[in-house]
Amino acid sequence: MRSSLSLSGILLGLLALSAVGCDADSGMDEVTPDPNRDYPALKTLAVHPVGVAIQAVHLSSTERTTVIKKVFNSITAEWEMKMNPISVGPGSYNWSGADALVDFAEENGMQVHGHTLVWHQTTPSWMENFGGDDEAFEEAVKEYMMTVIARYKGRVVSWDVINEAFDDERGELRNSVFRQRMGDDYIARLFRYAREADPDLLLFYNDYGLTWSLPKRRAVMRMLDDFQERGIPIDGVGLQMHMAWDGPPLEEITETIDEVVKRGLKLHLSELDVRINTDGNLQSWNEERGNIQKERVKELVAAFNRIPEEQRFAITLWGLRDPDTWLIDFYDRPEWPLLFDARLLPKPAYYGFVEALQEAQ
Ligand code: G3I
Repeated sequence: MRSSLSLSGILLGLLALSAVGCDADSGMDEVTPDPNRDYPALKTLAVHPVGVAIQAVHLSSTERTTVIKKVFNSITAEWEMKMNPISVGPGSYNWSGADALVDFAEENGMQVHGHTLVWHQTTPSWMENFGGDDEAFEEAVKEYMMTVIARYKGRVVSWDVINEAFDDERGELRNSVFRQRMGDDYIARLFRYAREADPDLLLFYNDYGLTWSLPKRRAVMRMLDDFQERGIPIDGVGLQMHMAWDGPPLEEITETIDEVVKRGLKLHLSELDVRINTDGNLQSWNEERGNIQKERVKELVAAFNRIPEEQRFAITLWGLRDPDTWLIDFYDRPEWPLLFDARLLPKPAYYGFVEALQEAQ
């Protein structure tokens, strides 16, 4: 879908193209961004938080933290606040990575979104192979959740209580160790435990593919309706938004957004990235797809900014610069899905985000 370009959009686009070398992917690693290049900060233009997923190891890079502090006012830990890195054994915790990220955010006036208390893909082996009975298993999970939430109470504004609990094909509950040991109603109990740990915490359900998997979307919406009927505490939904230059269609995205909004819940576009190499044919940055990527980011941010302001929790990018993306390893191919290139310079997609925010004002 082509949006009508305003003069400012054309000028910004020309600025963007001048900023992005055609060999953006071959830029040197971690070079200092052009100090003379000024570009508008997303956090200043948006009425909602704009976040980025980062890792503790990134905090030692002045180049990165300069850009993170300039542009964003929210962070999500890409790794360090998951169960695996924190829970080193029953009642035994490694807080170093999570503490570093929460300290950084606090020092720089940024909010922290906690990701994620429970996820079947990052369950520590001691919990996966728990030797006690089911009641003891549930106690161990509850103790973990209460301990983590308590440690960051007042410093972490929200948590994904659980991530990706339903399968893509049939929208059935994944047969995780949590479901096996705690039963089919385990998710409701996880949300109750999180509320018990901190009455002020915003509690989210986070997942991918609700736009393109109708069975999964319907299953999640049934869960939300069930929670609201039973008084199970939940405040919002994270739609991860791992999308591409060629899909999913905006109509499917807005349908899904509307399903969350009409239930009065907060919406987090929680893991935004936009693939341009879906067919695997690209070996270097492609300007034409890069401009389509810009339009996709622009239309998504515009859609988010059409929902009621009090329901706009945040938009979070799943990584700072293209070489950081999980997608390169996941698909084992080059990819350029984020807002900044390898040289930490803003890409056309960054200016698509800017234009959408300016047009929403
Ligand atoms: O940093 C540690 C290193 O110290 C350790 O020696 C090594 C041992 O395996 O692991 C390193 O951590 C890796 C971590 O990324 C940081 O790079 C983990 O192995 C690796 O599994 C982890 O992958 C993350 C993945 O979730 C699994 O947690 C990706 O970075 C992250 O982008 C990805 O993000 C997920 C969201 O949480 C949920 N939605 C899907 C999304 C993509 O899979």
